[in-house]
Amino acid sequence: MKIAVLPGDGIGPETTRAALAVLAAAGEAFGFSPELTEHAFGGNAIDAHGDPFPDVTRAALGGADAVLKGAIGGPIWDVGAIRPEQGLLALRAELGVYANVRPIRRWTTKLTSPLREDLVDGLDFIIIRELTGGLYFGPKELTDETGMDTCRYSVEEVERVCRYAFDLARERRGKVCSVDKQNVLSSSKLWRRVVTERVAPDYPDVELSHQLVDSMAMKLVEQPAAYDVIVTENMFGDILSDLAASISGGIGLAPSSSLGAQRPGLYEAIHGSAPDIAGRGIANPTAMILTVAMMLRDLEQPAAAAAIEQAAIHALEHGPTTPDLGGTASTDDIGAAIAARLADHEVTT
Ligand code: NAD
Ligand code: IPM
Ligand code: MN
Repeated sequence: MKIAVLPGDGIGPETTRAALAVLAAAGEAFGFSPELTEHAFGGNAIDAHGDPFPDVTRAALGGADAVLKGAIGGPIWDVGAIRPEQGLLALRAELGVYANVRPIRRWTTKLTSPLREDLVDGLDFIIIRELTGGLYFGPKELTDETGMDTCRYSVEEVERVCRYAFDLARERRGKVCSVDKQNVLSSSKLWRRVVTERVAPDYPDVELSHQLVDSMAMKLVEQPAAYDVIVTENMFGDILSDLAASISGGIGLAPSSSLGAQRPGLYEAIHGSAPDIAGRGIANPTAMILTVAMMLRDLEQPAAAAAIEQAAIHALEHGPTTPDLGGTASTDDIGAAIAARLADHEVTT
């Protein structure tokens, strides 16, 4: 199991360190030994190499089974000619990871949601965000007078990510909600046509619904438990997933995987580098730890993945927790507590 680790910037390295402690403990408890290599990526790579995705890092990803990435970016790189985020888009494109899988679960009823309890009871859906097309990657232009981004999708780009969503729905509750803005955007008209005419007919057992993205934001607040699989284009998925993470209990809890036709997949939390709390050792590493669980499931270690999730839920229910969840523990405390529970697992099985 070869894992390329990109610790990133801000709380990236802090949360990654805690997640790696959990990965090491899982390896010991379940009898596998991950081979880890660390590489510059993001703002730190701009500082060291003048490039957020330098060739040395690019070259190292080829032989990896998975890429585990901490959050990148921060105010000190916001003013430069080249930004850390450009490296992230280049990485996603290079790996061809078109399906960004963002599970949104109420991991435990102990979590406080900004929404009323009866609204989030049973919350369990997955956002499939298209990740290598749309506004992020279309032609761009910036002059003194105008700025332009282009949202462009091909039939093939829409079809493959929607097929991923339908396949996933088959393993779950059999419902897909496709989110678009087809009342205005041509790219969304294409999106709706492809999902309806080219994909859905192959899945008569899956129930397809459509929702315009503006009213979807409303629906996610008013009846989030109604959803199973949500599939949408890149930018809409970015926005809706932070909202979804928040209502499930907090942005520090939401993991993700990004998958393409082949390995390596890319594994990252959905939150950012949190410049407001970086360097204080108080970031919540749960999202990165649950991201490691997603990675291990894809690397055929389902028992280890499940044990990590159980241990993370135990910590959410009984502590320790970080300040975002009302606790006083540090980032490393959470990693150590979850790692220790996995070590106990070794003794009891
Ligand atoms: P952010 O997610 O970094 O922070 C938003 C808020 O959530 C902040 O108050 C932060 O303290 C809090 N938060 C986020 N993660 C947390 C955690 N694990 N534990 C506790 N609190 C947490 O979003 P932002 O402030 O809009 O962006 C900051 C930087 O991160 C930007 O440069 C942005 O481009 C970058 N970013 C990177 C990624 C990535 O690498 N995948 C994702 C999102 C944003
Ligand atoms: C995310 C982030 C990134 C995105 C940024 C940092 C480029 O917000 O992974 O959700 O917009 O995809
Ligand atoms: Mn985002």
